[in-house]
Amino acid sequence: MSRLRVGCVGTGFIAGKHLAALASFDDVDVVAVADTDAERAAAVAASHEARAYTDGLDLLGAEDLDAVWLCVPPFAHGALEEAAVRRALPFFVEKPLAHDLATAERVAGSVEAAGLRTAVGYHWRHLDVVQRVRRLVEERPPLLFSGYWLDRTPPVPWWAHRGRSGGQLVEQTTHVFDLARLLVGEVTDVSTTHVPASGPHEQPDDAVPLASSVALRFASGAVGSVSSARVLPGRHRVGIQLVGDGYAVELDERAIVDHELRLTTATGVVSEQSLQDPIAAEDRAFLDAVAGNSDDVRCTYAEALRTHALAWAADQSSVRGG
Ligand SMILES: NC(=O)c1ccc[n+]([C@@H]2O[C@H](COP(=O)([O-])OP(=O)(O)OC[C@H]3O[C@@H](n4cnc5c(N)ncnc54)[C@H](O)[C@@H]3O)[C@@H](O)[C@H]2O)c1
Repeated sequence: MSRLRVGCVGTGFIAGKHLAALASFDDVDVVAVADTDAERAAAVAASHEARAYTDGLDLLGAEDLDAVWLCVPPFAHGALEEAAVRRALPFFVEKPLAHDLATAERVAGSVEAAGLRTAVGYHWRHLDVVQRVRRLVEERPPLLFSGYWLDRTPPVPWWAHRGRSGGQLVEQTTHVFDLARLLVGEVTDVSTTHVPASGPHEQPDDAVPLASSVALRFASGAVGSVSSARVLPGRHRVGIQLVGDGYAVELDERAIVDHELRLTTATGVVSEQSLQDPIAAEDRAFLDAVAGNSDDVRCTYAEALRTHALAWAADQSSVRGG
């Protein structure tokens, strides 16, 4: 079996999940990691017997890789992807594609021109319970979509700055927008109202709203709403609800490896708890695509750009009118 050499830029929370999955595959060597936090990079490198860098561009310039994982915060995108494109190096990138739309559009153009293989971490797409809902809605299209991201403010230093994270709709609720597109189809109208953050320490245009409500209309004729809030003591509800003729679907994420599907029909309620690891599933699918063994990447950069543009439009509507 030929082995795959991979690197990872960013060694924070989500990189830890990807690196654990990558290290568990017996055909993968994690050979290098990078983080601007030198201590963190060194500690993570040591645990994988990998080389440590403090600049992801140096890693990309020096290492001979089959693929790279880009797990940096939203504001740090652009140059890393462009460097991977120049080296024809397939990359997996975490959502959101960037803190803004222009960076993601620029990278998408480069990726397309190069015909580069990519994958984006909209991990719900790799859950069997989501695929089950997909089959249901193909036969019986939803009429109503409701989505929720009701949570605490993440404690990472970049999150509460809209200019660094992109804000809650772009950084977190983007998973909900991705499910809306996957299960109901493209959105034609989006309109957002929000409760602004206040306080002497916050720059108004850099503040992330405390709560927001997004109204959606879909090309199919369905309608929807998405509620987000960041003022809770912990994760309260992250999930979606769909209503179609004769059924209701509820799908919730309690943790990345803990999902619940409830389907209500005339015959009663069927619940299913999923402990599938969607991070390992999306990583395996990308590795198999890179190795040329199969093509089960569920979200390419081009596909993710459509979700990112929707989240961005929702956020911009909020800036203009909320
Ligand atoms: N798919 C999911 O469900 C999921 C879950 C959590 C986070 N994420 C995404 O992953 C990304 C990272 O989130 P996180 O929670 O791991 O954040 P984090 O703050 O825990 O980790 C980010 C790491 O990147 C490093 N970093 C910052 N700028 C860098 C740069 N230019 N080059 C190299 N390293 C740099 C930081 O020092 C930090 O160690 C975010 O975009 C987030 O939305 C996705």
